[in-house]
Amino acid sequence: MKNILLIGGTGFLGTALASRLASADFLVTLPTRRRERIRHLSVLPSAQIVAADVHDEATLTRLMAGQDAVISLVGILKGNFQRTHAELPGKIARAAKAAKVPRLLHVSALAAAADAPSDYLRSKAAGEAALKAAYPEATIFQPSVIFGRGDSFLTLFAGLLKIAPVVPLACADARFQPVWIEDVVAAVVASLDHPESRGQTYPLCGPRNYSLRELVAYAGQVSGHPRPIIGLPLGLSYLQARLMEFLPNGPMTRDNVRSMQVPSVCPAGCTLPFGLKATPLEAIAPGYLSG
Ligand SMILES: NC(=O)c1ccc[n+]([C@@H]2O[C@H](COP(=O)([O-])OP(=O)(O)OC[C@H]3O[C@@H](n4cnc5c(N)ncnc54)[C@H](OP(=O)(O)O)[C@@H]3O)[C@@H](O)[C@H]2O)c1
Repeated sequence: MKNILLIGGTGFLGTALASRLASADFLVTLPTRRRERIRHLSVLPSAQIVAADVHDEATLTRLMAGQDAVISLVGILKGNFQRTHAELPGKIARAAKAAKVPRLLHVSALAAAADAPSDYLRSKAAGEAALKAAYPEATIFQPSVIFGRGDSFLTLFAGLLKIAPVVPLACADARFQPVWIEDVVAAVVASLDHPESRGQTYPLCGPRNYSLRELVAYAGQVSGHPRPIIGLPLGLSYLQARLMEFLPNGPMTRDNVRSMQVPSVCPAGCTLPFGLKATPLEAIAPGYLSG
């Protein structure tokens, strides 16, 4: 059995990844800030959940001992991007290198770039750079938006459409190439068996790209709540996001609006590495959106 440390492995993607790894005979360690709130993971036979502050370098050093691979998954959509996206990957990479952990995988985001329009995307690029500076052989994944049961994307739209008679939609023309969560998991896990993936960066996308308007309309159609969608101009998109920032769990921020100014789509022809075939949205989404 191999040991694998999933940092940020208790969320949407991490849970699917931990399940796949645990069933493939890996012993998975999952550090978390909120051990009591993630009981769903304690049912995995070979997963151990530990309360830990992964920003603390001594804690990271302790967690790295005896690991065969580390997967770095921590991500946020609002909050302290500098600490969480830019600095943490560097700390993880330095600790992994010092502990001689043979593989380091990191999940960033598609369109991450030093000159991107949002703090989210710039901080993701800074994190990639910090990671590579300390651990050049790290493998990086850059997914477009990820869909699947429990996502905060199509499921969120379907929930909103249920209660809203009309949808005033920010950034309706923003483009995405949604990728299925199990395809992301498959790519990350496959990279462990592909030594040529060391030092590589892989964009991860589904087979088709869509506008946000198309995706919201699709969520409405499949969930049984089709609604008129009114695309907001940029100024009103920022205003709507500003108002949502006052809500404790508001679904959007002005930084998200800035992220959507660049398409989250893969360069032509690229979808998944290692010979994997991307699953169409239409084959999966009805299974968790309808009813
Ligand atoms: N979901 C998508 O559509 C999508 C698209 C592109 C890229 N990504 C990237 O994929 C990765 C996983 O995304 P996800 O959707 O699974 O996210 P998620 O469900 O929100 O999970 C986030 C994880 O990060 C941890 N975390 C959050 N803030 C933290 C902090 N300040 N300090 C330490 N740990 C913290 C959480 O751990 P706790 O147990 O401690 O709360 C949790 O395990 C992220 O890097 C994200 O940017 C996701």
